[in-house]
Amino acid sequence: MSCIKVKGGVRLNGDLHISGFKNSALPIIYATVLTKDVCVINNVPSISDVFITFNILKSLGAVISKIGASSYEIDTKNVEFGEAPQDFVRSMRGSYYLLGTELGRFHRAKISEIGGCNFGVRPIDQHVKAFTALGAVVNYNNKSFIMCADKLTGERICFDKISVGATINAMLACVLADGRSVLQNTAKEPHVTDTAEFLKKCGAQIYGAGSGKIIIDGVKRLHGCEYTIMPDMIECGTYLAASAALGGEVCIYGAEPLHMKSVTEKLLQMGADLEAHNDFIKIRGKRLTAVEISTSEYPGFPTDMQPQFAVLNCISRGVGYIKENVWDKRYKYADELVKMGADIRLENGRLITHGVNRLTAAYTEAADLRAGAALVIAALSADGESTISNIHLVERGYEDMWGKLNALGAYTEKCN
Ligand code: EPU
Repeated sequence: MSCIKVKGGVRLNGDLHISGFKNSALPIIYATVLTKDVCVINNVPSISDVFITFNILKSLGAVISKIGASSYEIDTKNVEFGEAPQDFVRSMRGSYYLLGTELGRFHRAKISEIGGCNFGVRPIDQHVKAFTALGAVVNYNNKSFIMCADKLTGERICFDKISVGATINAMLACVLADGRSVLQNTAKEPHVTDTAEFLKKCGAQIYGAGSGKIIIDGVKRLHGCEYTIMPDMIECGTYLAASAALGGEVCIYGAEPLHMKSVTEKLLQMGADLEAHNDFIKIRGKRLTAVEISTSEYPGFPTDMQPQFAVLNCISRGVGYIKENVWDKRYKYADELVKMGADIRLENGRLITHGVNRLTAAYTEAADLRAGAALVIAALSADGESTISNIHLVERGYEDMWGKLNALGAYTEKCN
């Protein structure tokens, strides 16, 4: 089992560069299947979810070549309809974007056992609602989704629940459909906009991405393009949280300040010493004051930053409250923090923390990607050397986290 040793009690100092956004990279890489031309994608993060996505596309016939440090040429001319290998699909959530792209290109799709972080039940009924509205017949059998359509016809689709994945999957299926689609109650997350911008560069007609209503006029074909993926707001938020807790001074380059607003505002409310400039964010660590956090869709406080801020609350002054509203089972790291001396408990669906001066090193286990990142922050702040297991889950979504932290003065070392 992969694990990481982390020496605590360090200060972080220096400059850090944010990589491309995992949650944009995945749909954009899948979206290349919608054109038969070559696409060049820049700022692709080197994370295992991306490499698995590459393997899925290669298994269907795509040719993918690395042409720069973080740039890839993706040729999907010879991609054929087929079922992606289950081992790959099972290991990540983003594989569900294959449903939208296969449906768009081949008018049929098949995928089995969609994986991803375990936050309890993760339905995809809103994806299915969109595909069905466009004319697909969807069967769910033995953990497999099988869809086919004689043709896809634009429709008015009002989502019952705001979903990033369903919004993006619907866009993927609509861009080559006949006529106009109107998507309502759509997710406004920056990665929805990023995916739409990529599709638009390929010739798609999409209006309103980033708002609650997206209009798509179907086109006959898409062409290839060169596109640069936006910076990862969750990676940036994670390093902001780590730096805020640890002392020292860190300058974070490459993030989009607008995307960071809910996180930087929360840090300022906690008393953080933070300056947001156009091209960098400077943060100096100090003891903070615990706050109340309630997660919601963008532009609200992101669920993907909730575990990292729970750690901040644990080591800040006073009482903190965290209410998770997107994934009800996303508190699994709390018991691990208790092992480190945190005063944290779940009460009536809210995490309540009483700040302690310091955490103590312990052996902990990452339950999912962001929980793992939170445990890394906790270990960096603790007295002594901690070991965190299941660290491959962190590597799903953070490019070279150990190298980036060590370059700032941390001591982390991979172990088995
Ligand atoms: N939902 C439904 N029906 C659906 C789809 C979603 O009820 O058909 C519910 C979910 O159960 C959840 C809520 O709607 O309660 C939001 O789910 P959403 O579909 O927005 O999440 P997702 O697309 O599956 C993406 C990210 C997650 C991130 C969420 C919320 C990817 C691959 N995953 O998931 O990222 O937490 O949006 O922002 O983009 C992470 O990066 O650590 C991560 C888990």
